[in-house]
Amino acid sequence: MRAACRAYRHPDTLVPVVSFFRHADIAPMLADWENWSSERSEEKKARGLGPASIMLGNDPPLHTKYRKIMVPHFTPQSVRGYDAVISRLVDEAVEACVDTGEIDFVEQFSQHVTTGLICEICGIPAEDRGLIRRNSILISEIYGKGLFWKEPHPEVEAIVTGVSVELGGYLIGHVERLKNTDKPSVMSAIATQLDSPYEIAAMSMLLIAGGVETTANNIVHGLQELIRNPVQFEMLRSDPSLLDTAIEEMVRYRGTLRRQERVAKNDIEIDGVTIEAGDTVVLWNASACRDPDYIERSEEFDISRSPNKHVGYGNGIHMCIGNVLARAELRAIFGRLLTATSSIEEARGDDSYEDAGNGVMDVARRYSLKMHS
Ligand code: HEM
Repeated sequence: MRAACRAYRHPDTLVPVVSFFRHADIAPMLADWENWSSERSEEKKARGLGPASIMLGNDPPLHTKYRKIMVPHFTPQSVRGYDAVISRLVDEAVEACVDTGEIDFVEQFSQHVTTGLICEICGIPAEDRGLIRRNSILISEIYGKGLFWKEPHPEVEAIVTGVSVELGGYLIGHVERLKNTDKPSVMSAIATQLDSPYEIAAMSMLLIAGGVETTANNIVHGLQELIRNPVQFEMLRSDPSLLDTAIEEMVRYRGTLRRQERVAKNDIEIDGVTIEAGDTVVLWNASACRDPDYIERSEEFDISRSPNKHVGYGNGIHMCIGNVLARAELRAIFGRLLTATSSIEEARGDDSYEDAGNGVMDVARRYSLKMHS
């Protein structure tokens, strides 16, 4: 599609949708919120598909208000404060997975670290992690699913309602309890700076949805690419100073969020396609990340690629607020895997990997591996 056209109108969808594929279109459109808005249409809000998106689903000034609450908790300095927790979680995962026979890397390694970390950051007790995990699986399965529908799917909408009730309800109660603690955290900031239960639920759900599945799946797919490219894996093992460029390439090449949505603010014609104000545009950042007109050897996974400026974490005012944290997790995990293992192999041949993606997110359900010290 990227080579064939700039803009493509999907036929017969419930909401009018036009897709874009090229880096030269997508990067500036993501940065131009005045013409390409993140504000959800009333119809979409009513259908409520996708996780509650209080920050993702707004433009300034509301977006600015919400983002200011979270930003101080995700600066490089704040993220350094999570280093000890990340190390502990990675050590636990290594202990459970290295020299222990066949393991599921999704559950026992990447989810252990990412769900554990977000729960620690949010002060969610260990006994409630099952609820968080259960709902984040559901979110990854339904996220953005309704966009290309040609008819309604009430069963999926029922799942959205279920997640909002269980996870949203839990988080409202959790945030309420944190109001009485002295320890400053992102959750206590949400608790004290937002009033309505809807805002509190949506903001904390976004943190869980944004922080768990994205990073967890980039860890899985980063490792999968290394296993599929043994020369690259060997290169990293013999030169760990390539770690930073390697984790950047993992997000360029297999970024978990494959596309972003925006709404056209004005009527415009692009490449012969008429877009009306209110139409949804889909910006395929996964395609932009491999656009040969923007990046050389774009289909090659190259752990030494530098510079490597990509839109895997988005662009503009909504650019991933957790990118420093995600990079810290990826660096800690792959750094530790290099020292803790001498080899990693797929345990069930072609049946080792099970996909659970929905086209919007690159999601793994299972990855059966054996890791040897
Ligand atoms: C490798 C891991 C990650 C990837 C690939 C990723 C990707 C993205 C992308 C592409 C966006 C932009 C969405 C848009 O423009 O519509 C985004 C936004 C966001 N991400 Fe991430 N993300 C990752 C990790 C994280 C983590 C660890 C957190 C939180 C702890 C997080 C929280 C968020 C939030 C809250 C937003 C919304 C920002 C806003 O609307 O201003 N993400 N992420």
